[in-house]
Amino acid sequence: MQRALGVCYYPEHWDEAVWAEDAARMAAAGLTYVRIGEFAWSRMEPQPGQYDFGWLDRAIAVLGAAGLKVVLGTPTATPPRWMLDRHPDMLAVDADGRLRKFGSRRHYCFAHKGYIADCVRITEALARRYGANPAVAAWQTDNEYGCHDTTYSYGPSALVGFRDWLAQKYQSPDALNAAWGNVFWSMEYREFDEIELPNLTVTEANPAHHLDFRRFASDQVVAFNAAQVRAIRAHSSAPILHNFMGRIVEFDHWDVGADLDIATWDSYPLGFLEDRSDEGEAWKARFSQQGDPDFQAFHHDLYRAVGRGRMWIMEQQPGPVNWAPWNPAPLPGMVRLWSWEAFAHGAEVVSYFRWRQAPFAQEQMHSGLLRPDSAAAPGLAEARQVANELAAMPDCAPAVARVALVFDYESAWAWTIQPQGRDFDYFRLVFDTYRALRRLGLSVDILPPDCADLSAYKLVLAPGLMRLRDNLRAALARFNGLALFGPRAGAKTADMAIPASLPPDIPGVTQRISRVESLRPGATRALPEGAFLRWFEHLDGAGSVHLATQGGAPALVGEGNMRYLAGWPDAVAFRAILGELCVQAGLETHDLPEGVRLRDTASHRFFFNYTTAPVQVLGQSLPPAGVLWQPL
Ligand code: GAL
Repeated sequence: MQRALGVCYYPEHWDEAVWAEDAARMAAAGLTYVRIGEFAWSRMEPQPGQYDFGWLDRAIAVLGAAGLKVVLGTPTATPPRWMLDRHPDMLAVDADGRLRKFGSRRHYCFAHKGYIADCVRITEALARRYGANPAVAAWQTDNEYGCHDTTYSYGPSALVGFRDWLAQKYQSPDALNAAWGNVFWSMEYREFDEIELPNLTVTEANPAHHLDFRRFASDQVVAFNAAQVRAIRAHSSAPILHNFMGRIVEFDHWDVGADLDIATWDSYPLGFLEDRSDEGEAWKARFSQQGDPDFQAFHHDLYRAVGRGRMWIMEQQPGPVNWAPWNPAPLPGMVRLWSWEAFAHGAEVVSYFRWRQAPFAQEQMHSGLLRPDSAAAPGLAEARQVANELAAMPDCAPAVARVALVFDYESAWAWTIQPQGRDFDYFRLVFDTYRALRRLGLSVDILPPDCADLSAYKLVLAPGLMRLRDNLRAALARFNGLALFGPRAGAKTADMAIPASLPPDIPGVTQRISRVESLRPGATRALPEGAFLRWFEHLDGAGSVHLATQGGAPALVGEGNMRYLAGWPDAVAFRAILGELCVQAGLETHDLPEGVRLRDTASHRFFFNYTTAPVQVLGQSLPPAGVLWQPL
């Protein structure tokens, strides 16, 4: 398996006179890939229909001549100002009905047919021109779908598209009324054209209405991406990728990934810790220069699966970023650690964002591998070290793990629409489970909700999975390992209703959930070790009880190899429950020092020290930000 480094570069930001030197320095630093183009529409097509590809021809030629492989981005995340004259209604509208104006990026509605046609046109022009260019090694569609809350738009294109989508799905308003339960509050419709988008209602809209809107919006992202993929494939056989983001769940990445050759993502560990972590202040302070020890790994594992085994880091944080509430520098060694961690989780390429810090515009405070004056920034030496180490390192292809965790975007939507408790969040529940598994030293695979084959795994977990798809149900019937569902799994039908026989609608669970409680911060239901917090389900009826609360209520139930968990465990309870399941499943666990993580590849075991102090691993002292690997 190839493993290489890369960098993101913006030739249009710099005098053409420095391109050759930049390219030579990239190659000398051990970088192989260079991504360009993804925001340069106003330079590729300065006036509608007037293309200027001369500069891009020369940039690709200069980079190619230095031996670099170009990843060419389609520029559709940043339509130029003239596009608005052509499509005055292409801007997105937020849930409060306000227009999201021109002047930054991602200013478009995914459902706008005219804008999609222009995206296909520019993509086709690029693919025609560079599709056979030997320097172009891969294509990136757009940039970070969904970033800056851009999946949903409540504008006119979305409204027309949504009605059409509903008409196709339900065929008749009566069928829709029945599926949604619109008899409630006299919400019944006579025509599809009576249906509005689910924003600006007096109080909450019907959860089924919300869920279908989210499904529709996700389908728009899939279609937007697929249109570009088709345009590229007609002229190029190079792989096509998209750079996904961290903790974005508003569209179904499995569905977008199905049309791509490689799933990549943009890893900003320090920005994500400050901006996207649910942990408290003490945790953030402790990891402020290292990042959360599980956040990167989770996304590596997720996107490796979304890419059906092929995953890159398209943008890797190289130093302080500019967009989080606080933007410290990484601890010396962390840029190297993050890079190696990505490789250990199966990345083929780790590409740093960006080559040179820009002294102008929105991201002037964001570091690069070079400072604005072109001197080396600290990240460059660490990148070069990784390049040297890669050259000396034998293959470390990913192995299939023994533990798998199901991740389902639809469940994220369902529980956002109906959290029932203010802090019930699907991503957080899955991520807590992932963290608990990693604290036990386990390597984890992430699976889609329609996974049809579980045979590689000894333990499969599906917390919060709103409903079981037929494929997964069939795979479970053949499964020999242990499966743990819940809390809040098998809890809804596809129409977002409570199943007729009461949840959980999970094979091998005979008890029924008679009521659920969400628990305010500080309220818990004590277990023999640790407690449930946030969420607790009352299970009634006959069946095996493997663990009870201190109050005597069933906490872990299930027959045969099926288990159902009735609440959201804290870290102590997770450790006890998962530790015991690992014993039953015949899985080896490891008592790792706090803040140390382990990852097994097919050939090596890696250790990563996310703490600020040396730790003892395998009889050696692993320094802060240290990485250690040994053959298995
Ligand atoms: C990413 C984005 C890049 C750049 C970077 C800054 O989300 O794709 O274009 O803005 O963040 O950290």
